[in-house]
Amino acid sequence: MNDLNDLSEMDRRIDEVVKRIAERVSPSEDEVRRAKEVEIELRKRLDNLLKKYSGLRYEFLGSYARNTWLPRNLEIDVFILFPENWSTEELERVGLEIGKAVMDEYELRYAAHPYVHGKVMDVEVDVVPCFALSRIDRIKSAVDRTPFHHAWLKDRISGKEEDIRILKAFLKANGIYGAEYSVRGFSGYLCELLIVFYGTFRNLVKAARSWTRDTVIDIASGKVYRERRGFFVVDPVDVKRNVAANLSIDNLAKFVQLCREFVSNPSEEFFETRDVRPDPTFIQRELDERYIFAIEFERPDIVEDNLYPQLERAVNRINDFLERSGFSPIRNGFTVIEENEKCYLFFETEVFQLSQVEKRMGPPFEDEKHVKKFLSKDRGYKPFIEGGRWWCYERRKLRRVDEAVADYVTREWKGLGKNVGESLNRGFGILKGKELLDKVLKVDKLLKYLHLFMGGF
Ligand code: CTP
Ligand code: MG
Ligand code: MN
Repeated sequence: MNDLNDLSEMDRRIDEVVKRIAERVSPSEDEVRRAKEVEIELRKRLDNLLKKYSGLRYEFLGSYARNTWLPRNLEIDVFILFPENWSTEELERVGLEIGKAVMDEYELRYAAHPYVHGKVMDVEVDVVPCFALSRIDRIKSAVDRTPFHHAWLKDRISGKEEDIRILKAFLKANGIYGAEYSVRGFSGYLCELLIVFYGTFRNLVKAARSWTRDTVIDIASGKVYRERRGFFVVDPVDVKRNVAANLSIDNLAKFVQLCREFVSNPSEEFFETRDVRPDPTFIQRELDERYIFAIEFERPDIVEDNLYPQLERAVNRINDFLERSGFSPIRNGFTVIEENEKCYLFFETEVFQLSQVEKRMGPPFEDEKHVKKFLSKDRGYKPFIEGGRWWCYERRKLRRVDEAVADYVTREWKGLGKNVGESLNRGFGILKGKELLDKVLKVDKLLKYLHLFMGGF
């Protein structure tokens, strides 16, 4: 067989799977009808509400307006467009007022501005205020780009909706759909741009096999090239903006690997969430043989986009402490368990207990003044010369990793993120061995997290 035949055979096998998936990712007639009913009701309510204000209008944007939403994940995005001469404060106030009045039930959420998330006739709705700009360079906040996104996409995605939904389903099944901090994956808008750029899901997954951390995809010019500014997808409506800014390098790597595996062996399994099946016997054995512990504390009551960077900072700072103290950390991570409103910072180290003595460096022999001072301290051990300078032993107060970390957190909580630090200062627990096992056996999500953290299949 020559290469050409090989390629077309590969394409044929991908297409076969894609065809079968296409049916599963299209919303049912019933869902479409229900959405339409809600849209009509929403328009009625909005027309009525907007009579009070002159110059305001609304638009349906996002995946509902473009028919690229995933079945059973319907959420209608309505944007209220304010004239540019409104102040941001007035926009926020009136935006919330309208949002609240539209919904049957609601809660406030925070992005660029506060906005209202809620339900209308049992369907999820976002009402987001933004400025209606004549030119995008007058942008005041990220959401002001959204009408431009919609205008750019709406004709270009026509006929490609199914491939977009297939891509979203592929990403979702593998835990990398969504740009929010808790996922750090692909946003809906990024999915739409990639399909516009590559034409089909098949072309995309084939091309993505050779993406790198330096790949730049310039949607508007149609060019792909490499440049050292991180994986970058140039927003066609704003060339300075990286649409993939929130995609972590690890999730980029995960996607590239998934594409390689999918292309070499296409199957519907790539669209199914693989259930992690933690094995308590495995976990118990690993906990016996390795040095793994978790810091447990109350989840600060702040939004995810604020919480996650703080947790990242906290694990990094603690990791640095473990490193310089000689515990040789090998892995760290964190998870937020919303069910019990707790956060967990996880660490694994090579070393559980350090020597009772610590070797301390003193001055070089020439420096008489400092040598004298160094020798005058009583440490319980006789100082010695090595390599032309003085050294001594000192007894450690804390030898064990859990004690040392507890002490560090108690002293240095201020450097561990504002709200996370404050919560740690109010109290925390260190779980290891049997206590950690007992805890994870009670909290299913924590069990799954630990299983993966340990390298379980
Ligand atoms: N948007 C944006 N920047 C963000 C979040 C959203 O520009 N950080 C815009 C995008 O144009 C997006 C729209 O707001 O299309 C709606 O956002 P969202 O509901 O989060 O995504 P959807 O594209 O609607 O995708 P999904 O199917 O997941 O709802
Ligand atoms: Mg949406
Ligand atoms: Mn939304």
